[in-house]
Amino acid sequence: MMGVDVILGLQWGDEGKGKIVDLLSSQYDIIARFQGGPNAGHTIIIGDKKFVLHQIPSGITRSGVMNVIGNAVVLDPTILLKEITALEAEGIEVRSRLLVSRKSNLILPGHRLIDAWQEESNANGGVGSTKKGIGPTYQDKTGRFGLRIGDLHAANFDQLYNKAKERHLRLLRAVGFADEIDDAAWLIAADEVRRTLTTVDSEIYINEALNAGKRILAEGAQGTLLDIDFGTYPFVTSSNTVTASACTGLGISPKKIGKVYGVFKAYSTRVGEGPFPTELLDETGEMIRKKGHEFGSTTGRPRRCGWLDMDALKYAIMLNGVDELFMMKIDVLSGMDSLSIGEAYNNNSFAGLSFNKDVTVNYTQMQGWQEEIRGTTDYNKLPDAAKTYISQIEKLAGLPISLISTGPEREEGIRK
Ligand code: IMP
Repeated sequence: MMGVDVILGLQWGDEGKGKIVDLLSSQYDIIARFQGGPNAGHTIIIGDKKFVLHQIPSGITRSGVMNVIGNAVVLDPTILLKEITALEAEGIEVRSRLLVSRKSNLILPGHRLIDAWQEESNANGGVGSTKKGIGPTYQDKTGRFGLRIGDLHAANFDQLYNKAKERHLRLLRAVGFADEIDDAAWLIAADEVRRTLTTVDSEIYINEALNAGKRILAEGAQGTLLDIDFGTYPFVTSSNTVTASACTGLGISPKKIGKVYGVFKAYSTRVGEGPFPTELLDETGEMIRKKGHEFGSTTGRPRRCGWLDMDALKYAIMLNGVDELFMMKIDVLSGMDSLSIGEAYNNNSFAGLSFNKDVTVNYTQMQGWQEEIRGTTDYNKLPDAAKTYISQIEKLAGLPISLISTGPEREEGIRK
């Protein structure tokens, strides 16, 4: 029997997973999201159309592919319906090709307010969250207060909802952040989700599909360095973002994990607060931000930019058991005289970064290249300096890079 393949980000999110999942999705029958929520923004560009998916798996733009939102995803019905409507406006059939786990937790209007309060009051140290209610929803899930998609079908849903709302209001009033919760739009959206979407026990669906020989790809969100356990805590997201999370997020045994594909950018970026040892605060960082359009697809915030960090990348490869690497956005690095790769930290390692943020990085300097390489599909056509950059990364990572993306469009890339 085949296993469930996993694709995930090896950095702080925004690696370009949307494009890769879209590319790979022609080889799969089912694409399943296993964690996170609308904090994600997976961008897919097809011709002159750009889609930013927040909660819907990136297989939705390929007809014939089934899309599953797994149990450990947290779901906001308002955002979900906006996404569905935008896709439908482009002629994409969504509702018959989307299954939602009954066990996934609902992001309630109160969760968004609590997230905003936590951020604005610095209550959790100023993580710089996307304010989509992710943290508070996972807090309620593990605190066993959560409401789940399946509850939308309960006869006493109104009662369950009002109880949760009251609890959130008590907190918001106590800290003086809000007196009321405006939930009119959310309630309408939640009702439409209840009436028009198919909810399932997705763990049963996935395991039966696997037994029937279907090819399944689990799509990660955010990135390994934002993992709640292994990331730069507390500057992390509230879910596990590593391969193991695909098991608990979809209800599959670890024995059923197939190939693991790790996506990384040719440089590093991070949105929000937290340590970033290879960050570039100079004009080189500014150039990468401009050329790479490094602005958040969910929040529009400028992303912090820096050199590739091999210490962090190797840690991510270890945690995830990566089989193959996909490198994104190498075209952004054209036009530099020299490039640096952060090889290791001198006095620490990524694993210790949340306890000792004061690190210096040991860099290898490499020659840059001037040629624009956007859209290149032939490895041999790359400038020698770009080839050397790629092989140096492969050497340090101890893994092959099997795909090098050279632009945002589907066909812009090199298979090695
Ligand atoms: P939250 O997930 O909204 O709670 O945000 C926590 C941290 O993770 C913040 O630094 C966010 O900027 C970051 N983050 C969350 N989701 C993403 C993502 O999909 N891409 C990049 N950064 C993210």
